[in-house]
Amino acid sequence: MRFPPEFIDRLRNHLPISEVVGKRVPIKRHGREFHALCPFHKEKSPSFTVNDEKGFFHCFGCGAHGDAIGFIKDFEGVTYPEAIERLAIEAGLPIPQMTREAEEYERKRHTLEDVMALAARWFAEQLQTPVGKEAREYLRDRGLRADTIERFGLGYAPNQRDALKNALIKQDIKEPMLLEAGLLATPDEGATYDRFRGRLIFPIRSAQGKVVAFGGRILPSSQSPNAAKYLNSPETPLFKKGEMLFAYDIAARAAREQGTLIVGEGYMDVIALHQAGFTTAVAPLGTAITESQLKLLWRAVPEPVLCLDGDSAGERAMMRAAELALPLLKPGFSLKFATLPAGEDPDSLLKKSGISAMQQVLNQSAMLSQVLWRQGLARFGSETAERKASLEHYLMQTAERIADGMVKQHVRDYFRGELFILNRHKKGQKIATVNAPLAPLPEANDDKTHINSLENQLVSIILLHPALLQQADIEEQF
Ligand code: UTP
Ligand code: MN
Repeated sequence: MRFPPEFIDRLRNHLPISEVVGKRVPIKRHGREFHALCPFHKEKSPSFTVNDEKGFFHCFGCGAHGDAIGFIKDFEGVTYPEAIERLAIEAGLPIPQMTREAEEYERKRHTLEDVMALAARWFAEQLQTPVGKEAREYLRDRGLRADTIERFGLGYAPNQRDALKNALIKQDIKEPMLLEAGLLATPDEGATYDRFRGRLIFPIRSAQGKVVAFGGRILPSSQSPNAAKYLNSPETPLFKKGEMLFAYDIAARAAREQGTLIVGEGYMDVIALHQAGFTTAVAPLGTAITESQLKLLWRAVPEPVLCLDGDSAGERAMMRAAELALPLLKPGFSLKFATLPAGEDPDSLLKKSGISAMQQVLNQSAMLSQVLWRQGLARFGSETAERKASLEHYLMQTAERIADGMVKQHVRDYFRGELFILNRHKKGQKIATVNAPLAPLPEANDDKTHINSLENQLVSIILLHPALLQQADIEEQF
């Protein structure tokens, strides 16, 4: 049986390979990789590595190498299609049947990719011709450099009914293909016409760097003031907008190198960020972040930073992201939030206050747990016993949404610690040492000092957070 390649890509993206391998052999995290005893040859010390970022395993001992599907195939001794089926079941993805029509469709999909590439090139050319003058000036006025325009492959869709349609039909592309690519719209009556007209064009690329869709921004002189500011391609066989992030193809590599990744809100923010040197910026496509997008982010870095507007819309966006992330958190994987000044987006902030202001916003980003605490405190207050009870109730309920036991326990402990500190402050007992750093750990080989220092640290922790002792579950461990 054959499977559509995009299904195989989805499958690979859906489960980290460490999870697939870890279910079958004991593996241990080592920095950005996992190590294990190689299941494919006999060995005493681990030379088998698993890398989630690359989606591959590799054995330095016997040279065994492959992706998650290859691992199941070799480990379980099944055929490639069987391995795909097993992985699909593990990932909870329905297995598409590759019928004859589906194979036909598959061939078409290739053609669709070619059509999108041709369209992208055509839009880019229009931007450089006389018809693209207004768009060029608009980009210039917004401060975009020529190299940025080229890097993102920006283009222009002329304000005509069928300029793209005619141009591509001349290049021997058939109309049904243009429809399927989402490049044409169909009126109730009459001929199909170009979906994007009189708009600046932002090509949307897959993680593999292929153009799969377009976003189009209206220009100031638009004839129709009621038209949406941005228009996206519809969902097509190539484009599932909830599974894609704008600029992920160019940002993911930089993000892995730098260990950080910025999630902005829209096209212009991402582009402005990249142009200013923040080359790890991506954005969802006009919707709130989805689960697949969050998983894509986590494939690149453990703690992506969501940049949000400091207004109430930003607050709502943050709560939505938190809701989504809580059940998915795993040790080491979380979200950070950077709050922009109210009314600013990264693009406007960069323009107004420069790179250092943006950097400062990023430096001040807070972890998900901190943000939830602050948000809870703002919402419930702590002036009365009743409010404190509401706050604690809310925080404990929030922690309850975390599926992972270890993360749940630590987030709860963090909330309890904050509640405790809050109580002490309210009683007027100043705790001057709360923010004092603990003594650094000495080298591990100096056993005696090491133990003394651990003792000291434990004592200081308990002095700072005596509430810890009141928790039965922790008490038992002492
Ligand atoms: P914004 O309205 O915040 O625009 O939409 P922006 O990104 O700041 O763009 P500029 O600076 O005005 O050019 C944020 C994102 O929401 C989606 C787009 O993806 C946009 O980048 N959006 C917005 C739409 O899909 N449709 C719209 O009509 C508006
Ligand atoms: Mn903007």
